[in-house]
Amino acid sequence: MYEQVSHSLLNQILDNLKPEIRKKDLRHFYTRLGANFYAIYSLFHRLYGKRDDFEMQIQRLAEVLAVNYIRRSKELKMLDIEREHDHNWFLSQEWVGMALYANAFADDLEGVGKRLGYLQELGVNMLHVMPILKCPPGASDGGYAVSDYRNVDERVGSLQDVNDLSAKLRARDMLLILDVVVNHVSDQHEWANRARDGDPVYQDYFYAFPSRDIPDMFEETMPEVFPETSPGNFTWDERMGRWVMTVFNDYQWDLNYGNPAVLIEMLDILLFWANQGADILRLDAVAFLWKKIGTVCQNEHEAHLILQLLKDCCQVTAPGVLFIAEAIVAPVEIIKYFGEDAVIAKECEIAYNATFMALLWDAVATKNTKLLEQGIRSLPNKLDRATWLNYIRCHDDIGLGFDDADVVSAGYEPRSHRKFLLDYFTGKYDDSLSRGQPFGRDEKSGDARISGSLASLVGLEAALERNDDKAIQDCVDLILVLHGMIMSFGGIPLLYYGDEIGMLNDFSFMEDEEKVHDTRWIHRPVIDWNKAERRHQHGTPEQQLFEGIARMISVRKNTAAFADFNNRELIATNNPHLFAFMRSNTFELGDHVLVVANFDASPQSLSLSDLGNRGQFELGRLRDLYSGEAPSLFKDQLVIPPFRFYWLTSNV
Ligand code: GLC
Repeated sequence: MYEQVSHSLLNQILDNLKPEIRKKDLRHFYTRLGANFYAIYSLFHRLYGKRDDFEMQIQRLAEVLAVNYIRRSKELKMLDIEREHDHNWFLSQEWVGMALYANAFADDLEGVGKRLGYLQELGVNMLHVMPILKCPPGASDGGYAVSDYRNVDERVGSLQDVNDLSAKLRARDMLLILDVVVNHVSDQHEWANRARDGDPVYQDYFYAFPSRDIPDMFEETMPEVFPETSPGNFTWDERMGRWVMTVFNDYQWDLNYGNPAVLIEMLDILLFWANQGADILRLDAVAFLWKKIGTVCQNEHEAHLILQLLKDCCQVTAPGVLFIAEAIVAPVEIIKYFGEDAVIAKECEIAYNATFMALLWDAVATKNTKLLEQGIRSLPNKLDRATWLNYIRCHDDIGLGFDDADVVSAGYEPRSHRKFLLDYFTGKYDDSLSRGQPFGRDEKSGDARISGSLASLVGLEAALERNDDKAIQDCVDLILVLHGMIMSFGGIPLLYYGDEIGMLNDFSFMEDEEKVHDTRWIHRPVIDWNKAERRHQHGTPEQQLFEGIARMISVRKNTAAFADFNNRELIATNNPHLFAFMRSNTFELGDHVLVVANFDASPQSLSLSDLGNRGQFELGRLRDLYSGEAPSLFKDQLVIPPFRFYWLTSNV
């Protein structure tokens, strides 16, 4: 839209640009800035319009955009243009991600570069290297307490190593995902130190208060994220003589986005990492970006405005770069991180599908898909040009964040059902082989989340100890079912390193004083490469898992119906152990894949007539894309063996 006020301001900004910026050839930059300026101006004005320094701040913002554009390499600028032309590129079924810690996977970043062959053997082509920025040793929250946003932690390497890795990945058509911790900094960050030294400019970067008055008001409605290890949301800083907001650990200071200088600093950091070759930036803890007294300080409307602003700005300087929203919040809230009140994604193009993740675990424990089906049915439709990151587990705990109304519709009482799940996964339930551990137990409510490696949570650790071949096979099959779901649901599957070879719980964290209170370390293992070698030994769990997952990935990449164009239809199976949905190729009529999974230990059947005329499968020609086999049929009853899934088509 041509809007007079913002455009005369834009002209003024351009006139005031420093001569060294004005001299450059910024054709693409100016077109994009012109196209996005009205949106940028409106959002910036909504957030900061009342401030006297508004014009100075927006001038500064435009300069940050221009300077980072000038610094962006030719190669990355070309990639931006390619992606502008093919703007749905990330919705393709060809992408498969994995998250890993550089030092636990391969010692360091250089080591990761040497292990790309392993990832390619599996088929992974999108690599999330867990946080690599400088953190104080000991108080790092696994990399999420950053003390220097422009330097790499020496434990994993150097800035040069990141550049080398990103070049290597690009040469192999693989993508790099890097974290930017946008919500908080380490208490050792320079901004925190300057605030401590009494500099009011930097004190305004944080929520810092001399008395308990305001903190107490906040506390009335704010929940605790780490109630066991870091109760409360404020920490007293002796040197500053102030209470500072620390929603996560007491050494992670929340940034004050009410101050435009903070937003501009963070934008500069995002673009810095975009310019180091990150294709996708994972924005950490985005639900927490805006704090308001009297609220839970999560999912506030302004948090969305900030993300929209960051996106609009990133599109000016580095339009090929995508954002992932890490917002592990209620299902109806997660979806808003694609863009509140929008048609196409305008905040983050990708979001963690924490809802699907938690629901899958419910199906594992109950061997029943009632809640899974109900939860997915309630999940609002995504926007266009937005996609899920589907995962089974990640480096964090598993929270049982389903909607209570869905739990009730599925026939459970929410409190006791959550207690059952917690007991099930922490092995307190008789029938369970699961070996998880509670995380973040809240003594007041009795709530907790769950830690544990995927293999140990499904029972493989216990089954191996018991030498129980049948149980071992069931666990392997179940792990494959879960992968079969995230690969076909719609969105980008994000594997978690080690799961492809069934890494078990790693108890070494218990000997480390800095980690012992955080059970999430149990599922952040150092990869055992001897174990990985067993992927070549026929019949071992490692071989079955690795090969099964590799096969799934290769089938996924060749199955157009698995691309994500909101082309999934959930199917009511009338069988509480089955979960089924239809995926349709949006570009070719009649090309459907019926996905069906059995979460139970006994065979289950699905009546194909329940599908109506969806898919119009020819029964005699049904074939499972994954195994290549024809499934067993009795009349129109499809039989799904225990802990198995099918990707069925009749287009042979
Ligand atoms: C995110 C990270 C988590 C971290 C938290 C605080 O949720 O995934 O690991 O503890 O942010 O930074």
